[in-house]
Amino acid sequence: MTRLAGRTALITGAARGIGLAFARAYAAEGAKVALADIDADRAQEAAASIGGGAIAVRMDVTDQQSIEAGVADTVKRLGRIDILVNNAALFSAAPVVEIAREDFDRLMAVNVAGTLFTMQAVARHMIAQGGGGRIINMASQAGRRGEALVAVYCATKAAVISLTQSAGLDLIRHGINVNAIAPGVVDGEHWDGVDAFFAKYEGLEPGEKKKQVGRAVPYGRMGTAEDLTGMAIFLASDEAEYIVAQTYNVDGGNWMS
Ligand SMILES: NC(=O)c1ccc[n+]([C@@H]2O[C@H](COP(=O)([O-])OP(=O)(O)OC[C@H]3O[C@@H](n4cnc5c(N)ncnc54)[C@H](O)[C@@H]3O)[C@@H](O)[C@H]2O)c1
Repeated sequence: MTRLAGRTALITGAARGIGLAFARAYAAEGAKVALADIDADRAQEAAASIGGGAIAVRMDVTDQQSIEAGVADTVKRLGRIDILVNNAALFSAAPVVEIAREDFDRLMAVNVAGTLFTMQAVARHMIAQGGGGRIINMASQAGRRGEALVAVYCATKAAVISLTQSAGLDLIRHGINVNAIAPGVVDGEHWDGVDAFFAKYEGLEPGEKKKQVGRAVPYGRMGTAEDLTGMAIFLASDEAEYIVAQTYNVDGGNWMS
């Protein structure tokens, strides 16, 4: 399995969950991988568990200097960046009348500005190094439509889909393909947090929301991070050369668009 042999990938939010699964999958396909995360210790453990030259990079995607330092550190240690996965994100939920301004600002800073300015920093590097590149943004089914208790997160993921379209159209002239993946409900620590929000606002027992959303997926269960790796590898591979500015649902049939 060497579909990404000779490529170097930077994945944000890769200390756990989907980003970590992508890092493992890319490394198994022959890529050199940088796992960037605000949780540097956990990113270090994750990189060590992958081995094969995988590195950890401390990066806070809300901080411009930290983004630029993380990109420079990756280039210094791995030589170049061919693939970026903009995966770092936060979730929150609240009825509209209870949304806190600070919460809105925090999610916009990580999910939207973090995606845009990490994309910008890496695209600048890709243009300078030549040879094009691949950028994959993590959107969500939440970006396809609103949800009563999830206004802010849904808005951030709609913005990620929109940024993917605009950046995709702009950067393809440099040979950089920008696309996105829209997962549905993926079990893991992220969804433990989502479950806790719904337990609070819908009066559910802990774990009940996960059961409900799993039963509602046409495929019949929640997704796993590994369910998404095929699309992540495909979009980074030569086979996706002609795909530009698209967002792909990988969600067991939850959404059709
Ligand atoms: N899990 C799901 O059901 C689901 C569904 C749709 C979309 N997604 C999206 O997929 C992506 C990964 O989700 P996940 O479930 O693995 O999430 P997760 O919460 O498990 O992991 C997110 C990672 O991002 C890191 N992070 C947070 N703030 C950061 C910052 N400022 N700078 C750098 N890193 C930061 C965290 O430390 C963590 O390691 C996210 O974009 C998420 O919105 C997830």
